[in-house]
Amino acid sequence: MENFVHSIPTELYFGKGQISKLGDALNRFGKRVLLTYGGGSIKKMGLYDEVMKILSEGGFTVVECDGIEPNPRIESVIKGVKLCKENNIDVVLSVGGGSTLDCSKAIACGVYFEGDDLWKMVKSEWKLKKALPLVDILTLSATGSEFDGAGVISNMATDEKIGAMFTYPAVSICDPTYTFSVSKYQTAAGSADIMSHIMEGYFSRTDDCDISDGIAETVLKTVIKNLPLALREPDNYTARGNLMMASSVACSGIPEYGKQGTGWPCHGLEHELSAFYDITHGVGLAILTPRWMRHILKKDASTTGRFVRFAKNVWGLSGGSEEVLALKGIYALESFFKESGIASNLTELNITEEYFGKMADHLEAEADLKNAYVPLTKEDIIEIYKACL
Ligand code: NZQ
Ligand code: ZN
Repeated sequence: MENFVHSIPTELYFGKGQISKLGDALNRFGKRVLLTYGGGSIKKMGLYDEVMKILSEGGFTVVECDGIEPNPRIESVIKGVKLCKENNIDVVLSVGGGSTLDCSKAIACGVYFEGDDLWKMVKSEWKLKKALPLVDILTLSATGSEFDGAGVISNMATDEKIGAMFTYPAVSICDPTYTFSVSKYQTAAGSADIMSHIMEGYFSRTDDCDISDGIAETVLKTVIKNLPLALREPDNYTARGNLMMASSVACSGIPEYGKQGTGWPCHGLEHELSAFYDITHGVGLAILTPRWMRHILKKDASTTGRFVRFAKNVWGLSGGSEEVLALKGIYALESFFKESGIASNLTELNITEEYFGKMADHLEAEADLKNAYVPLTKEDIIEIYKACL
């Protein structure tokens, strides 16, 4: 069991009607608000009007920064920082999914960045001295960005997608009813992301963290139980609520406390796919993860015990040799993603092997895959990508 520090400064208000805390949350920081959002889903679902009413009644001055893309771009960060500086903003309010929130984190930090190239801030993991306070209303259960300090920003000009530590939200409002309108596709992709956040830490060399592994298995089983329900009944509060809680816990670091770091290999592999092909994060993860699992199981037989535990404790499987049981668990995961409607290979997304070499070079330079659960070489990376075609 490794040492760890627990520090999550975010106040998280969970449940129906928690938007009633919004005015008070913002008032702690000032009256001038940068409202950030994406391509318009918050308008369609009526949340934009609800937020604007609260802001208007509370006497806030609102500047809008809209159009933040899924896989948010550095250009949106630049736009938001400019708006903050020009309008003397006190607090950023993000309303949307992980992309809007990640971009808002980068904006909040970018206001104080001592330099003119904000892409350098993203790439250098600039050690932050200061950031604007950030409040968010979450509308999609997936990234856990509502409960962590990380953000992921893309630069399509250089085919790069970089994750960095920016700033924690001061307040996150997580009302599952705001996720009723999320499409089946995004619900499934978000759930795959939640599961991946758990599996990235679960497959580690540390075997004696009963609390962390127990939480991890519970989160996985929660998604396995509630995703099909949410897909069948989009307005099912219990299903949406459990997925939302799973999202926040999964990326909080808690399920990895005491465990040796793994470098999150599937996230590294996926970020390259998104950088080159702008695909949905969770879809890439769902395609990659079972292939990565089979690859490392074959490469290093000492991983068999962990895969057997995964098969038994997460999927309730039993019987057969250890090797067979390990593979059955991976198959169960793959089938689960398929049944939830996610594309099952990269060919379906029109991706060919053209850039696999380049992606592997990027990945070797950017990610910590030498310290992964099973270290990955460039050849391993290319082989995993090819298995996804
Ligand atoms: O842009 P709008 O119109 O809002 O539509 C969005 C978008 O098209 C839509 N949507 C969101 N809430 C909705 C809704 N549609 C209907 N009803 C609602 N309630 O869903 C689409 C996807 O939204 P997005 O924010 O991109 O999804 P997600 O939350 O999955 O975020 C993905 C991004 O987060 C990064 C990913 O790499 C990706 O860039 N990640 C962030 C992490 C973090 N901060 O810790 C960790 C993750 O591993 C991940 O890398
Ligand atoms: Zn993720």
